[in-house]
Amino acid sequence: MNLLNLLLKNKHNRCSRAVINKKEPAAMEKEVYWSRFANKFEELADYVVGKADLAIILDVLAEQKELKRTLELGCGNGTYSKVIAAQASELLATDFSDEMVNVSRNRLNGYANISVEKQNCFDLTYGDNMFDTVLMANLLHVIPGPENAITEAKRVLKPGGKIIVVSYTSEGMKFLHKAGMIYRYLRAWGKPSPHAQTLGLAAASEMLTEQRFEIEKSQLIGGKSKAIFITAENRE
Ligand SMILES: C[S@@+](CC[C@H](N)C(=O)[O-])C[C@H]1O[C@@H](n2cnc3c(N)ncnc32)[C@H](O)[C@@H]1O
Repeated sequence: MNLLNLLLKNKHNRCSRAVINKKEPAAMEKEVYWSRFANKFEELADYVVGKADLAIILDVLAEQKELKRTLELGCGNGTYSKVIAAQASELLATDFSDEMVNVSRNRLNGYANISVEKQNCFDLTYGDNMFDTVLMANLLHVIPGPENAITEAKRVLKPGGKIIVVSYTSEGMKFLHKAGMIYRYLRAWGKPSPHAQTLGLAAASEMLTEQRFEIEKSQLIGGKSKAIFITAENRE
């Protein structure tokens, strides 16, 4: 087990599903871990991961074309939103944290095709088959029961719609780069979020294919820091 796995306990276990209380309205709950970083989230993420590797991910996202009506889940403070909105007819950027939503609203103000809303990715208030694309950037590896968020994303996606998953991972990283990242991670975020886990390409791809997504692309991207990048089509 590598250092990053020790730090971010590998909790992804296909047999254990998180219990999601769907009866509790999202507005009653409050995100507590990430909200603390809302004002400087992008700055801290740049420090932990490195600007150069973030730029690589943004370039790969910018290559995604004709995304049409797009929903972003767990948008944080909007790091990926502008790039994805440039390829979409409209972008609904959402997050469970009131603070992230407020900061994103300010940062993305003035982009005519972007709106920002509070949403819990496990219990979206949208109807079925509403979106052509769903983006999850650095969400699946920080939430409990990520497969349940995929189920909900699938519900709101049109048949033939596209899911885009980007998540930082320790997979494919050199030992020294991992050690450096752990140091920076602890300095920036402190104790990892309670649900943080390492998520590799195979496990994430399997979560999608189990729910009848057909994988289009599945690759590791980045330089010293790595991210999984998967696009998949909703087959039903
Ligand atoms: C690691 S941050 C990633 C933010 C952004 N996507 C980025 O990569 O810069 C994870 C984000 O997911 C949000 N989040 C956590 N649980 C969520 C949930 N159940 N529904 C929606 N968003 C959630 C957090 O508030 C946080 O903004």
